[in-house]
Amino acid sequence: MMYGVRCAARFASGRSHRSSREFFAVNGYAVVENAFSAASLEKLRSRVSLLIDQWQPSSSELAVFQTGADQTQTTDAYFLDSGDKVRFFLEKGAVDSDRRLLRAKADSINKIGHALHDLDPVFRDFSYSPAMKALADITAIEQPLLLQSMYIFKQPLVGGDVTPHQDNTFIYTEPNSCVGIWVALEAATKENGCLWGIPGSHSQPIETRFVRDPAQPNSRVIFDPSDYRDPDCRWPEDMFQPLEVEAGTAVLLHGNFVHRSYPNLSAKSRHAYTLHLISGKSHYPANNWLQRPPSMPLKSFD
Ligand code: FE2
Repeated sequence: MMYGVRCAARFASGRSHRSSREFFAVNGYAVVENAFSAASLEKLRSRVSLLIDQWQPSSSELAVFQTGADQTQTTDAYFLDSGDKVRFFLEKGAVDSDRRLLRAKADSINKIGHALHDLDPVFRDFSYSPAMKALADITAIEQPLLLQSMYIFKQPLVGGDVTPHQDNTFIYTEPNSCVGIWVALEAATKENGCLWGIPGSHSQPIETRFVRDPAQPNSRVIFDPSDYRDPDCRWPEDMFQPLEVEAGTAVLLHGNFVHRSYPNLSAKSRHAYTLHLISGKSHYPANNWLQRPPSMPLKSFD
């Protein structure tokens, strides 16, 4: 398998819109420095602290988030119903066999998802901001709709890895249209689990879809086709390039761009906020894992 591996280029905010667009089109990603101010990042972090304080989970709500093949075995209704909610997902090993938290809840959360951008006023303002719209424009997505949001913690010492994947596997449209906007709320380095990606890999098609199991559509998801292969075999580790960035930087990801992150084994957290957009010109299938009810239609920036 051949990819056009190129050096990771960085775009300061003063770099022209056109050159960022061209870089994204060729490489499947773009790094935009100084996309957001320190003050706007602090608003998100403060808001999340408040949301955690207010979160009083029952034992049934203590759901663990996992990636890779394990996903199909651990997913439950709490995850499948989260497309129009604000829900909290825990790190692996955060709860004991009786579903009791082993650490403080603020230190146990893997991520919060998946509709912060529509349900929380602080995240709504950030997600629908002119700055975010300008980032979406760089990807050239047509009629962008804000589908999904996640606040990712990558906790110190315990923050789990995210296995190699293409976002179009999870957010599938016909034709493919998903674009990710990943915002570093703290510096992301190789030590604390930054993104890694394969430049040019967006030219490769997706090989599987993450869909609701036809036999149990409300309680189980599967990879389709069922011969889901070990992603480490498909995408050799030495092809990935680190995307180390400062707080306030945005990384734009084409839906076919192969990316991953390693565990955070450092003492520093690596908070990030991600938005996933789809095109209003594409069809969104009913068997995608993430669904929104008709009462909560997707919206664009304007
Ligand atoms: Fe991703």
